[in-house]
Amino acid sequence: MAEQLGSLARTHTCGALRSADVGKNVVLLGWVHRIRDLGSLIFLDVRDRHGLTQVIIEGDAALLEKVKPVRSEFVVAILGDVERRSPDTVNLSLPTGEVEVRAKEVRILNEAKTPPFSIAEDQNVSEETRLKYRYLDLRRPQLQKNLALRHRITIALRKYFDEQGFYEIETPILTKSTPEGARDFLVPSRVHPGEFYALPQSPQIFKQILMIAGFDRYVQIARCFRDEALRADRQLEFTQVDLEMSFATPPMVFEIVEGALAACFKEIGVDIPRPFKRMPYAEAMAKYGNDKPDLRFGLEIQDFGPLFTESPFGIFREAVAHGGTIRGFVIPGAAKFSRREVDDLVEQAKQLGAAGLIYARYTAEGVQASAKAIGDEGTRQVLEASGASKDDLLVLASGAPDAASKVLGQLRLQVARKQNLIPEGKWELTWVTDFPLFDWNSDEKRWDSVNHPFTAPREEDLHLMKSDPGKVLAKAYDVILNGWELGGGSIRIHDRETQADVFRLLGLSDEDARNRFGFFLESLEYGTPPHGGLALGLDRICALLSGETSIREVIPFPKTTQAVDLMCDAPSTVDPRQMRELHIRPIA
Ligand code: AMO
Repeated sequence: MAEQLGSLARTHTCGALRSADVGKNVVLLGWVHRIRDLGSLIFLDVRDRHGLTQVIIEGDAALLEKVKPVRSEFVVAILGDVERRSPDTVNLSLPTGEVEVRAKEVRILNEAKTPPFSIAEDQNVSEETRLKYRYLDLRRPQLQKNLALRHRITIALRKYFDEQGFYEIETPILTKSTPEGARDFLVPSRVHPGEFYALPQSPQIFKQILMIAGFDRYVQIARCFRDEALRADRQLEFTQVDLEMSFATPPMVFEIVEGALAACFKEIGVDIPRPFKRMPYAEAMAKYGNDKPDLRFGLEIQDFGPLFTESPFGIFREAVAHGGTIRGFVIPGAAKFSRREVDDLVEQAKQLGAAGLIYARYTAEGVQASAKAIGDEGTRQVLEASGASKDDLLVLASGAPDAASKVLGQLRLQVARKQNLIPEGKWELTWVTDFPLFDWNSDEKRWDSVNHPFTAPREEDLHLMKSDPGKVLAKAYDVILNGWELGGGSIRIHDRETQADVFRLLGLSDEDARNRFGFFLESLEYGTPPHGGLALGLDRICALLSGETSIREVIPFPKTTQAVDLMCDAPSTVDPRQMRELHIRPIA
């Protein structure tokens, strides 16, 4: 039977007591974390959000009897005295480890069923079980720590943006589709049969309108919704730190965002160097095969095309002759790889889409390439050009420049992980700039926006907008941390004509553009200041700063990769009456 709390109030949290509190009469409230029943002596570790305190029950037969049935996760009130632990039982890994509370009274405030997994031990529990019983999972100290850090980061960001003169302004959740490239979540209107609201993929249009409305600097910790495939760094609903600034240039946005990220890092006691590196998109693609390069380790991709124009190795010579190239990277110390290890590398490259992978070893005995036709001289030349040292292995792939780099970029990441080349505790931040504005969509025979359609072209490329849109670079930038895209943004188009031109290039008829964005095009005509901004992924920041590899570990109630909330069992069917009210009939 549960006992009542009555008017009992806690005097200290379970993380508060120190040796200076010895002799105090205290009340602790919390969950039983661990029990050690030694017969005439019972130890209870009592836990709350703040920590753990050891409680000792001894010499009181009635109290010992009462505590015997207590199990892990029971909720208890402990009334007792703080005592110093004997030197041999001091636990320095616990902030409260120098003391214990000798219980005079224990109230059992609630019982608990045996949990499906232990809160106290780090067991190998399936993610399904963790998410189904998320309220128990969230009790685990690691998740408590992650959400505490998330709270502190959010507060630090709000404080920082306030100091920088940003207003926090809310934008609608029931709105019209925003083009960020994913599918929309739609909400049927009851009042307007056959019509739908869309949940925002981002507050993009609203924040631009707030600039037109004269708010100068806007920020919002904004929930966004995108119906896209879920991964470790993606959820259907996620949180952006969304910002926009009037009269902004890219360096102004960089400075503000770098300051915001520095404020986040401060919460984990890290002082990050500023300004961050900057790298044009073309360089990121060429050197890392990726627009979110992980700069914590080398293995940079190099171009060896010119060395193979006359090569006796036909495959490479022909590739270069037909506009392709030969790219590769050096794996330090890998010349000693066994036959099996290099075969695995070749297989990995093929799975990533390469036609093949050639390798060259540099050993004390000399040089050797997997394609004999390259010849000793050719092998020596390419190894020398790559900067390989003795004991290194050079891997080479041919193909169209971007395609070769993309395959090698993936291989680079896999090799670095497998060979443990990624140092722990290193933070590598960089801006990637100068993205192309458009990407050719060969299926639909039209251009797509690489970023979103409100991104401004670079002024020096404006003349190419009609003649060669593929060559136009954008005033767009992403901020990257350890190979994760933390945020993306741009300077925006602020005149109606350029905006209408972009919509046309994207294959939107004037009528479509008016239907979807007419209100926005019109707003551009009423005195729009030049403006720009960016959105950071708060979940990603919190995951990386918590040392986690998935954002699910910093979101209290995430969806599985199958887009399901296992705890609430959402999505779920609804009452047919509710469907009728919403004017919805299932097709099947
Ligand atoms: P973008 O689409 O690049 O830009 O998104 C900005 C940042 O939001 C995070 N993010 C996500 N996080 C978790 N799950 C997702 N499904 C997800 N999608 C995006 C990423 C990303 O860098 N309106 C523009 C911003 C702007 O131009 O100002 C936008 O939304 O960290």
